[in-house]
Amino acid sequence: MQEIVRALEAKRDAARQGGGAARVEAQHAKGRLTARERIEVLLDAGSFEEWDMFVEHRCVDFGMADRRVPGDGVVTGYGTINGRLVFVFSQDFTVFGGSLSESHAEKICKVMDHAVKMGAPVIGLNDSGGARIQEGVASLGGYAEVFQRNVLASGVVPQISLIMGPCAGGAVYSPAMTDFIFMVKHSSYMYVTGPEVVKTVTHEEVTHEELGGAMTHSTRSGVCDRAFENDVEALLMLRRFMSYLPASNREPPPYRPTPDPGSRVEPSLDSLVPDNPNRPYDMQEVILKVADDAEFFELQPDYARNVIIGFARMDGHPVGIVANQPMVLAGCLDIASSIKAARFVRFCDCFNLPIVTFVDVPGFMPGTAQEYGGIIKHGAKLLYAFAEATVPKITVITRKAYGGAYDVMSSKHLRGDVNVAWPSAEIAVMGAKGAVEILYRKDAGDPERLAEHAEAYAAAFSNPFVAARRGFIDDVVMPRATRAQVCRALSMLRGKELDNPWKKHGNMPL
Ligand code: HXC
Repeated sequence: MQEIVRALEAKRDAARQGGGAARVEAQHAKGRLTARERIEVLLDAGSFEEWDMFVEHRCVDFGMADRRVPGDGVVTGYGTINGRLVFVFSQDFTVFGGSLSESHAEKICKVMDHAVKMGAPVIGLNDSGGARIQEGVASLGGYAEVFQRNVLASGVVPQISLIMGPCAGGAVYSPAMTDFIFMVKHSSYMYVTGPEVVKTVTHEEVTHEELGGAMTHSTRSGVCDRAFENDVEALLMLRRFMSYLPASNREPPPYRPTPDPGSRVEPSLDSLVPDNPNRPYDMQEVILKVADDAEFFELQPDYARNVIIGFARMDGHPVGIVANQPMVLAGCLDIASSIKAARFVRFCDCFNLPIVTFVDVPGFMPGTAQEYGGIIKHGAKLLYAFAEATVPKITVITRKAYGGAYDVMSSKHLRGDVNVAWPSAEIAVMGAKGAVEILYRKDAGDPERLAEHAEAYAAAFSNPFVAARRGFIDDVVMPRATRAQVCRALSMLRGKELDNPWKKHGNMPL
């Protein structure tokens, strides 16, 4: 018996060595942690239960029969984050470059299957050279098995990807189908085809970092939801991020008591919106002053900055925040911001997270770039997402809510539950200047008359009361009272039940 125990310990030790001391050293020299070190930072101390540490690949080609490493390049299992169950896989770059073999894929599939069965999130720590080249199509099959599970788990349990090294070729499509992608700056990259192929095909010369680094994906492509400075920061922020998410679509988001009273008034908000409707103000300030403890976990902060998305808590309960940002493109909705917000709204709706929407939107962005790029379809994504969502929806119009964008931004007509406006709100088809230029074209050469018309139009329409008279907003509230109003409305809506008509799935404008 003792011999077996000794053999077991020896086997475990061998598995823990990964690809050996030299490769571990090389990993550390790149400023990266190993797969197991990452799990240790991510999970509560001592909570990790590892599975399949003795699994080996079955490949015999290219001399692989003599090269077997227990665990086969991925560490999998379950543990807790702040006491809550999560399933994890962490690719081990020190073993065959973290490349995905058939067995490696089976290990990932096993934790995904359990996650769905148990109703707990799956976190993938990606650091891999892609398909195990020696295995060929067996590896491709392994990827597809993972992809299929990503799709079936979508909307059932949260799926989070943290890219901590290479992630190239078809391998990018597993993270792409998860709910959120986080990256580590200067250490991770994602692309479908690498710099060499790009050079051959398009003659562009581009580095790994320029093509698919964290900055590229968090500022240009929008693929990355947040980029962090190093492995440790990324993992610790991921722990914090998980505190906003329910374990599955069957659970409410986790409540966390707060010393910040739900009834807190914030007098400084009364003077935030400038008198001049063309002057911007920072919508971030509204969010921070309304949220519990001034805490806001923003997503995609450097991409499509004309819309703000992220998680906050109200009276201890997590909510998704969507807000126009008047500081960027005057808060107009364009292609990128519509897609950014639409996907976020859909995530919130999948996972029982109420949506609080702050509106200051002069309309959709005009221009050939937007029209040729398909703003009609892309803008419709946001409209579709808000209209489809059945979670509690609270809308606060702080200033402009013009035209189609008024309808889109979680309006009453899209089943907004509680829609309020600040006294500074202007809910209208368009701004006064634009309106009179169309209505009084005959006076185009007479700026004084136009100004008179504009004043009359503004007096009649640039206020919240036209909408209030029709019940399109439920109340006009003082900015200082916003937090209290939103907290009370959320509490009233906690038992909300609303179902869409039965269907296999809708056909949203993709
Ligand atoms: C098998 C691999 C591997 C792979 C790396 N290794 N990638 N083994 N299959 N895909 C091994 C290396 O042989 C090496 O082994 C060790 O991992 C470390 O790799 P290095 O090249 O020394 O590391 P580095 O210089 O940091 O370069 C990392 C890298 C490079 C840029 C990822 O390894 C690379 O280009 N790998 C191939 C990437 C690739 O083309 N993958 C297939 C993509 S297609 P030793 O024993 O020397 O330590 C794909 C299709 C997916 O993935 C389709 C899904 C549908």
